[in-house]
Amino acid sequence: MKSLKTLFDNNLAWASSIKEKDPEFFSQLSKQQTPEYLWIGCSDSRVPPNQIVNLSPGEIFVHRNIANIVVHTDLNCLSVIQYAVEVLKVKNIIICGHYGCGGIKAAMEDQEHGLIDNWLRHIKDVHRFNAERFEGLTHDEKLDLLCELNVKEQVTNICNTTIVQNTWKQGCELSVHGWIYNIENGTLKDLDISVTPNDVIRR
Ligand code: CO
Repeated sequence: MKSLKTLFDNNLAWASSIKEKDPEFFSQLSKQQTPEYLWIGCSDSRVPPNQIVNLSPGEIFVHRNIANIVVHTDLNCLSVIQYAVEVLKVKNIIICGHYGCGGIKAAMEDQEHGLIDNWLRHIKDVHRFNAERFEGLTHDEKLDLLCELNVKEQVTNICNTTIVQNTWKQGCELSVHGWIYNIENGTLKDLDISVTPNDVIRR
């Protein structure tokens, strides 16, 4: 295991390498952030947003939780969305799931996991809403499908928040996108379920 000191050493080396390329980088960034995207993704350590899309600090506003779920009563996630949309004025919200998601796998099992089962309940619901689509599939195909359907469900949930609804009512530009990341090859896939102000969503 790497020691904590390694992390501080890494940090110094990282900060120096950025300052070498752009001496003003941190002083400029400390004045304000102007990210164009809000990324809502899984906490999984293999899915680091900035690295996946090769963006620098300041370019992407991030919220992560287990299995990238947007729950209507989750004040943490809703506050992030509100700040991103109303204050930072991001124009794109990206929900990014990933294949091989441990949260999705756990939700497919009957085994008990304790407290987290209450969180995973939201994924079990997605499975239940779409039960017929899983018939005849192999276990792996079911997992992949649930990873994708979960993203789709969360796109709908974001669109139905009062924050996004009000933004659209005011005629502001804001799109919500559903993507999925493949941890086996490092690539992103657009699930082509983007929603813009003119689209009609199921409420
Ligand atoms: Co995950």
